[in-house]
Amino acid sequence: MALTLEGFDFVRLLVRDHVGIQLDNWKTSLVETRLSAIARDEKLAGVDDLLTHLRARPRGPLSTRVVESLLTTETSFFRDLHPFEALRQFILPDMIVQRQAQRRLSIWSAGCASGQEIYSVAMLIREHFPSLLNWSLQLVGTDVSSAVLARAAKGRYSELEVNRGLPAAALLKYFEQHGLEWQIKLELRAMVEFLQMNLSGAWRALPKMDVIFLRNVLVYFDVEKKREILARVRQQLHPDGFLFLGGAESTINLDSDFQPTYFGSTVVYKLRARVGEAA
Ligand SMILES: C[S@@+](CC[C@H](N)C(=O)[O-])C[C@H]1O[C@@H](n2cnc3c(N)ncnc32)[C@H](O)[C@@H]1O
Repeated sequence: MALTLEGFDFVRLLVRDHVGIQLDNWKTSLVETRLSAIARDEKLAGVDDLLTHLRARPRGPLSTRVVESLLTTETSFFRDLHPFEALRQFILPDMIVQRQAQRRLSIWSAGCASGQEIYSVAMLIREHFPSLLNWSLQLVGTDVSSAVLARAAKGRYSELEVNRGLPAAALLKYFEQHGLEWQIKLELRAMVEFLQMNLSGAWRALPKMDVIFLRNVLVYFDVEKKREILARVRQQLHPDGFLFLGGAESTINLDSDFQPTYFGSTVVYKLRARVGEAA
């Protein structure tokens, strides 16, 4: 049976309640397709039957599965390239000087999906800043979806995924082939930690970050939630740290404490110095 308007509204509230995201009206057919597939897989009579189970246990594992199936988890290695160039040319060289005394550096990919973003940072560090491997270096990927985190931790990707954005030399150097798939070598996997964290719920205790990637995540939240998340990101960032957002995202009209800074064609956000603080 087709998904009713009432059924769609229930799922919309479920998603909002779990992950803080507002599903658009035009996603009705996507919701119907995903729900039908899960109902089939769970050997339920259909979408209606699935909805009855979800209503009975809105916080159960089946609800989590449904919500996770509706998240957009699109990502790729070195996505958009420019942010990684800014990291290589300007940000990391500067950070290495600034943090020379502590020899500690923390980078966070928030909403990391299947891990390509933070593994790209790990490859860039191995390739261009090997001295950092002797520092206390923390590379953290977090996501609300346990399904994508399991993939990220495994570091196994299809031929299609490794052909998107990854230089051939990096594929040969940092991956091992397993049949039709490619797995990130252990030395690189060991550099990265993946943790489950809902940006819309209680946050884990994380160290203060020098660089935060929050790319292509805010776009799914309403204005109020974006402001709430940015305010918490502000607390999580060192005063001289850097925040990357996706190409279609910005802090403008959301959080005036972030100041856009330009590195070539990339915009990076820095915290404005407070009155009385050194620039
Ligand atoms: C489009 S992907 C972006 C991946 C990567 N940052 C990039 O730009 O390539 C968005 C990710 O945000 C995650 N996400 C959505 N809502 C979230 C929430 N409330 N808390 C944490 N992660 C969330 C999704 O599971 C998904 O993996």
